[in-house]
Amino acid sequence: METERLRLRRFGADDVELLVELDSDLEVMRFLTGEATPREVIVREVLPGMLRVYGEHPGLGTFAAEEKDGGAFVGWFGLQPTARPATVDVGYRLNRGAWGKGYATEGTRMLIDYAFTELKVDRVVADTMAVNHRSRAVMRRSGLRFTRLWHEHFDDPLPGTEFGEVEYAIDRRTWEAGDRA
Ligand SMILES: CC(C)(COP(=O)(O)OP(=O)(O)OC[C@H]1O[C@@H](n2cnc3c(N)ncnc32)[C@H](O)[C@@H]1OP(=O)(O)O)[C@@H](O)C(=O)NCCC(=O)NCCS
Repeated sequence: METERLRLRRFGADDVELLVELDSDLEVMRFLTGEATPREVIVREVLPGMLRVYGEHPGLGTFAAEEKDGGAFVGWFGLQPTARPATVDVGYRLNRGAWGKGYATEGTRMLIDYAFTELKVDRVVADTMAVNHRSRAVMRRSGLRFTRLWHEHFDDPLPGTEFGEVEYAIDRRTWEAGDRA
């Protein structure tokens, strides 16, 4: 899969270091876990989990994104299965050096198009903490619309948890109408 500036590929067993480095930036992890992901967790859980999704859900998964110009790893984009029928969840996590270039929106729009055209889904959703304004802006620019806000209980909540979680979504009819932000 590719966009104007990015190439997306599946992760492989030898991509541990890319993920360790990405998840070691506390600014990247601020609205996710608030801490770096330990290397052993990447090795034992994160990467095997990604590889498992490729096998269990053809077409879905977490994809490494690289700049077409030079091949630098910029982060990942993901399409994950959800409990709801014909609905997939889109997500992204980019190296801080790749922020502010429009890459997240570019990759997300491509994955939404891919989900409707190739995977034949009826709905694409995305969620994040309400205070993750950069992520919400990506959702809006990608054509997703705000659908709901809810509160979750965490034993060790991240700062901003009190403002809740938000979901954005786009359904097939809206996507076909090209009604994007
Ligand atoms: C969420 C995240 C991907 C957003 O990244 P981002 O760089 O803000 O988003 P985009 O790639 O769409 O870039 C948009 C910015 O690039 C600018 N830009 C520069 N060149 C551009 C171009 N050629 N095309 C489009 N936008 C461009 C835009 O003006 C915009 O700038 P602004 O933020 O000052 O308004 C990033 O902050 C991240 O990885 N965060 C950590 C992980 C995370 O929180 N993930 C979401 C959890 S659900």
